[in-house]
Amino acid sequence: MIQMKDNSPIKFLDLKAINKAFEPELSDTLLQISRSGQYVNGEISTTFEKNFADYIGTNHCISLGNGTNALELILQAYLIMGHLKEGDEILVPANTFFATFLAISNQGLKPVAVEPELYSFNISSRSLEQKITRKSRALVLVHLFGRNAYSEEIRQLIDKHQLKLIEDNAQAVGCIFKGVKTGALGHVAAHSFYPTKNLGALGDAGAVTTNEPELASIIRALTNYGGKEKYKFEYIGTHSKMDEIQAGVLNVKLPHLDKSNRRRTEIADAYLKGIDPQHVTLPMKTGPNQVLSHTWHLFTLLVEKREKLIQYLSQNGIETAIHYPIPPHLQPAYQKVNFGKLPLTEKIHREIISIPLHPELRDNEISTIIDTINNWEGK
Ligand SMILES: Cc1ncc(COP(=O)(O)O)c(C=O)c1O
Repeated sequence: MIQMKDNSPIKFLDLKAINKAFEPELSDTLLQISRSGQYVNGEISTTFEKNFADYIGTNHCISLGNGTNALELILQAYLIMGHLKEGDEILVPANTFFATFLAISNQGLKPVAVEPELYSFNISSRSLEQKITRKSRALVLVHLFGRNAYSEEIRQLIDKHQLKLIEDNAQAVGCIFKGVKTGALGHVAAHSFYPTKNLGALGDAGAVTTNEPELASIIRALTNYGGKEKYKFEYIGTHSKMDEIQAGVLNVKLPHLDKSNRRRTEIADAYLKGIDPQHVTLPMKTGPNQVLSHTWHLFTLLVEKREKLIQYLSQNGIETAIHYPIPPHLQPAYQKVNFGKLPLTEKIHREIISIPLHPELRDNEISTIIDTINNWEGK
């Protein structure tokens, strides 16, 4: 057994260390907001919307309560605009977090689950093509674990079948495809700033980005109970705002995002180089010159004897996590829905394990993780 020097485990994610790096700027910001008397609908969230639209490269950004609301309100706005109608089929990767499916179902739309590619974990364009029918109206493209999922093949399918392309960029803020940020590749995108995300708030927060003015204006109204003017409501909306505190925190952290994503890439490169592929299946590398085409929100391995590896790493002071233990189509909430056969998705969920990767992980911790995995005898 490898002994940790100070006996403290290597954390899977050290949010305290990540946010400590932004003190004292964060404490100044929080104090100013507390003293301002303006806690929602203020200048700070407006500034964040401008900063984030500039960063992603879109004309509009609507800040709101969380990433799930972002997806839901995009779909609701398309229903209002007549681009979607109840019961329409929405293509979605089977291998995603439950929230992506949930947002589709609770708008009265039908999620059609598409198999992934095994080693990128993202949607397979070949499987996507097979699932497109005359009722398909949109694709929710998830950039899972931080890896760009967009490609020429996907673009051609979107164009050919006149689908709306909705990006779920919850896990990939800062990711780039051929010079364009994810979140600006499709018609509209949902982002999450949940505290564990690469750009994390100190609570829940999310955003929508788009270049479509009418869509942006309807989504903004939907976040405000459905009203564009005070006390007049055009739509049956909801209430979902990014408060000033979260916007202030994100304004502080956004200028540092690219640097921390580059640090994540360095760590991922060390794992890809150092971990012996005979022990575990490594995620696919990104191609040469593909700068930030993966923001490494998570570093995931596939291993048949997953429970044994988790136990071994835990005994050696290394925390791990599973993203995710049960795929959306096998969740109890969907027990009455038949999504068809999804063997690759189920294999991934049986074998996947996430190892520590965050910008504050130290070099000696990275080497310990690599050596410990390579010394595993339980393969
Ligand atoms: C792929 C994906 N989509 C959507 C969401 C929902 O975001 P939020 O937690 O901000 O509602 C998440 C959150 O983890 C996610 O990982």
